[in-house]
Amino acid sequence: MAKVTIMEHPLIRHKIGIIRETQTGTRDFREMISEIAMLECYEATRDLKLEDVEIDTPITRTTVKRLAGKKLAIIPILRAGLGMVPGMETLIPSAKVGHIGMYRDPETLAPVEYYCKLPADIEERDVFVVDPMLATGGSAIDAINQLKKHGCKNIRFLCIIAAPEGLENLQKAHPDVDIIVGSLDEKLNEHGYIVPGLGDAGDRIFGTK
Ligand code: URA
Repeated sequence: MAKVTIMEHPLIRHKIGIIRETQTGTRDFREMISEIAMLECYEATRDLKLEDVEIDTPITRTTVKRLAGKKLAIIPILRAGLGMVPGMETLIPSAKVGHIGMYRDPETLAPVEYYCKLPADIEERDVFVVDPMLATGGSAIDAINQLKKHGCKNIRFLCIIAAPEGLENLQKAHPDVDIIVGSLDEKLNEHGYIVPGLGDAGDRIFGTK
């Protein structure tokens, strides 16, 4: 079964507290989303492989560790996932970035894919799919289906807030995908919003309403 990590770090809990508040403006919201993504990226990259490299320090020759050069990709689910990209890029700057566009049908709440542009060698890359809100799990499940169709094998999913329903659905659909969650909230309401949540993440990141 997929490994689920709920981030208990005080910095993340503090920052999530700020983005939940209605009064938090676009600039601070964006900044916090990016910072939380960076802290989650630290956790999500915990098992990246290292290799030994010999170097000279000013004092002596020694062996140090370097990332083994595994190719990485960040895949934001449009549009709210874009808000997590800057924080991810801060820690893994050489990662390629692909995009998958999904919207929720307002009647059925089912995800509809309208865009998919991935790095040409995506099947060789370790992939980090990012979307701040894991609500029903529909978009994440479909985006990961799409990535698996392109040959991706090593996929992790990072979100900032998850509903229990979405987490369960994603785990069931993709038991091989590790999931990193900033906060596991109470439930989904009848409009498909996470409670207590933070409202519409895309609108709050981009200042649209
Ligand atoms: N997407 C959002 O942006 N917010 C929610 O609460 C659920 C899905």
